[in-house]
Amino acid sequence: MSEGPRRLLIKGGTVVNADRKFRADVYCEDGIIRKVGCDLEGVSSDAKVVDATGKLVMPGGIDTHTHMQLPFFGTTAADDFYHGTRAALAGGTTMIIDFVLGGKNQSLLKMYEQWRGWADPKVCCDYSFHVGVTWWGEEVYQDMATLVSDKGVNSFKMFLAYKDLFMLRDDELMKAFMRCKELGALAQVHAENGDLIAAQSEKMIKLGITGPEGHEMCRPEEVEGEATARAITIASQVNCPIYIVHVMSKSAAQAVMRGKEKGHVVFGEPIAACLGTDGTNYWHKCWRHAAGYVMGPPLRPDPSTPRYLMTLLANGDLDLTGTDNCTFNADQKALGASDFRKIPNGVNGVEDRMSVIWEKGVHAGLMDPCRYVAVTSTTAARVFNIYPQKGVIAEGSDADIVVWDPEATRTISAKTHHHNVDFNIFEGLECHGIPLLVISQGRVVVDHGKVCFPSLNPLTLTIILFPMSIYRWR
Ligand code: URP
Ligand code: ZN
Ligand code: ZN
Ligand code: ZN
Repeated sequence: MSEGPRRLLIKGGTVVNADRKFRADVYCEDGIIRKVGCDLEGVSSDAKVVDATGKLVMPGGIDTHTHMQLPFFGTTAADDFYHGTRAALAGGTTMIIDFVLGGKNQSLLKMYEQWRGWADPKVCCDYSFHVGVTWWGEEVYQDMATLVSDKGVNSFKMFLAYKDLFMLRDDELMKAFMRCKELGALAQVHAENGDLIAAQSEKMIKLGITGPEGHEMCRPEEVEGEATARAITIASQVNCPIYIVHVMSKSAAQAVMRGKEKGHVVFGEPIAACLGTDGTNYWHKCWRHAAGYVMGPPLRPDPSTPRYLMTLLANGDLDLTGTDNCTFNADQKALGASDFRKIPNGVNGVEDRMSVIWEKGVHAGLMDPCRYVAVTSTTAARVFNIYPQKGVIAEGSDADIVVWDPEATRTISAKTHHHNVDFNIFEGLECHGIPLLVISQGRVVVDHGKVCFPSLNPLTLTIILFPMSIYRWR
């Protein structure tokens, strides 16, 4: 990639931060925002100038939850770290936090190095890792400390689902929470009751329900609600802050709200999928279409769920957003053609999250632009302790910026998206609000919808690991 101008002046726009909106020019140099203020044209004679008149200038999105090239269900997620981060940038997301996810008895440290090896040569934007704790033992206990002190990890994900693969029992979950607490790391939980899912999915198959609808029917939302409440109860017993990933249902959101009401430190992360679409798709007559929505926890067939979750996100009952981007092509989804239990779990989102939340939140009148910035960027930066380096347009912050056109529209389609997958769960959704310019580390990487770095040579792209490295929760 040829080196872009390292001095950039964004003129005439309206800066939107989580706390306020104001007219200002933004001047960036060497990847850092150097000045924010009125009429900055004199600041540098050789800066590239972009006109943002009538546009919003916002901190780049931070996607708290992705799984690029995850080995899962005997296959590998189609969006690798190259395609996935390129798609992120195309949509206005300038940082992702992915997951290191090894299986039982695998060394967390070795898995971390393995994921680094996959990601470092390919990523196009800043990224970092959460690490999955999928079993318990002395080695895990020690490795968690090393990951925090030496590798910049400050969050661990525990699973109450995926029995025999990732699932922890309650006593193990409690030990993992206690260790997070000791280390000042944040405990994240995938909250579904894995024993119930295993038993009920077997029952479905015996009843002859083998299609994608069985995936939802064997784990109705109460199964998510129960595990969410249980995880919060266990965390509160050991006084550990807790972060519920992919809050997909009213039941789970209500458990998060109850936890907050009781005074526990609980964060709820809905994702683009459950804010933008719903689980009625599992009953679609086209098998590939229905399978395209299979993820865990499932999208919910109650069609009022997305608006309900968006309302909670707007008012602070839910906190921030990710996507759980974990994509699989038709031939991969077809692994479960005769048994829904074998359909690789995962959907897209990293490219469209910013547009979907603008459309269903701001354009729909449920959320103001400042709250939009909070839930797409600032709160993530705060929770994972990278604020104010990220998550705000301010002097000294990273020049990860989106110039947003709130009036322009685009229609989401697999035909035009930047994912390495043949399906898009938001197909046909017209969104107001598009990322006109995306700036990563002070470089314009998307210009009027065009990704402006080469598509074939990822090794020449910016490669950066962004360690979070912090004892935020101690
Ligand atoms: O279906 C999903 N969610 N796939 C990714 C793995 C996970 O549980 O987040
Ligand atoms: Zn999960
Ligand atoms: Zn079809
Ligand atoms: Zn996930």
